[in-house]
Amino acid sequence: MLAVTGIGELLTLAPDGDVLGVHHDATVVITDGKVAFAGPAREAPALPSDALRIDARGALCTPGLVEPHAHPIFAGSRAGEFDLRARGATYGEIQAAGGGILATVRATSAATDEELVASTLARLDRLLDHGVTVCEAKTGYSLDVDGELRLLRLLGEVKRRHAIDLSPTLLAHVPPPDCSSGEERRGFVERFRAEAILAAARAGAEAFDVYCDAGAFTLDETRALLGAARASGLALRVHAEQFTNTGAADLAAAMGARSVEHLEQIAPPAIAALARAGTVCNLLPGAALTLRLPWPDARRLVDAGCAVALGTDLNPGSSLTESLPLMMSLACMQMGLGCAEAWRAVTVQAARSVGRGDAGRLVAGARGDLVLWDAGDHREVAQHFGVNLARTVVVGGQVVRGG
Ligand code: NIG
Ligand code: FE
Repeated sequence: MLAVTGIGELLTLAPDGDVLGVHHDATVVITDGKVAFAGPAREAPALPSDALRIDARGALCTPGLVEPHAHPIFAGSRAGEFDLRARGATYGEIQAAGGGILATVRATSAATDEELVASTLARLDRLLDHGVTVCEAKTGYSLDVDGELRLLRLLGEVKRRHAIDLSPTLLAHVPPPDCSSGEERRGFVERFRAEAILAAARAGAEAFDVYCDAGAFTLDETRALLGAARASGLALRVHAEQFTNTGAADLAAAMGARSVEHLEQIAPPAIAALARAGTVCNLLPGAALTLRLPWPDARRLVDAGCAVALGTDLNPGSSLTESLPLMMSLACMQMGLGCAEAWRAVTVQAARSVGRGDAGRLVAGARGDLVLWDAGDHREVAQHFGVNLARTVVVGGQVVRGG
């Protein structure tokens, strides 16, 4: 049993509470990896003398953060591209010259399994340092069928070796460079449907994602791939409307996708469709910041009734960060989210996006994942940016960071 006492401010995210389920002077008790009690200290059960206790000394206590969109398995560095972009080159120009995603694909296929596992574990360590206890993780830097299945297998190994609960996704990122003719592309999509998607669920994938955009998959290809994934029982995600408006968000809503990603260029009718479908909108401020894209209009999406989550989009090109709290800051500073909405976006909404109903909340029966912050008020975590305020991280009742 673990008891966290002396909590100055507790966010439970209880469904029947105020929007964040806030309590002051609170206690959390975790037994057998699950929350047994979370609420006012005066209502807490008596603690046995052998309970492990942590005195929060007035700190903010929240559920473990849920990362709904990450590309954590890759090799190599694209710092040179970053520098080129800083001096005016565009992402599209770099990609057309054989850099971008393809540069990472080359480095990833040259890396050994051990190197990929070690560097992915190190990234998960940094996510955990910043309060993340559940993380969606995409393949996508091999492109061909065997390579993507290799990345899925390695994500399975990473999952077994790390405290973070990983939710693997098979990603159809861009067609391989050798598919230049229409016929080659059709052949590739067909092979991906028949082989990769079919094998993915058996290899531990929980979801399937397609990047639908100029320079990636077309809307028709996206529809065909999603149809096969749905038939295989995988949850559906779509990288939609990032650089160009392709209609992918409407398609995602119509196909009952669990999430749509990016949405910098979304059009109003698609917003209404996503709200009706209950598809979670995973907004990625790090990519908009890095690529100087328009900020996704979180305010408009929330006001239209959409479920909005925030992700880092951790990847080697367009968003190299493991800080979900920084994404909360950007969403509050640039995308019109209030602090409470930003907290919901990285807890309950992100948990929906990752299909973890027992995460993102501190209520009886939920998983015993929590974070103590060097802050006394939840709004400070979004306001105080560019530093890490996560002090102590608990996963399943075990202290895995700080103390
Ligand atoms: O989510 N949009 C597509 N893919 C990634 C970027 C990948 C890369 O540049 O390596 C994203 O932003
Ligand atoms: Fe992404």
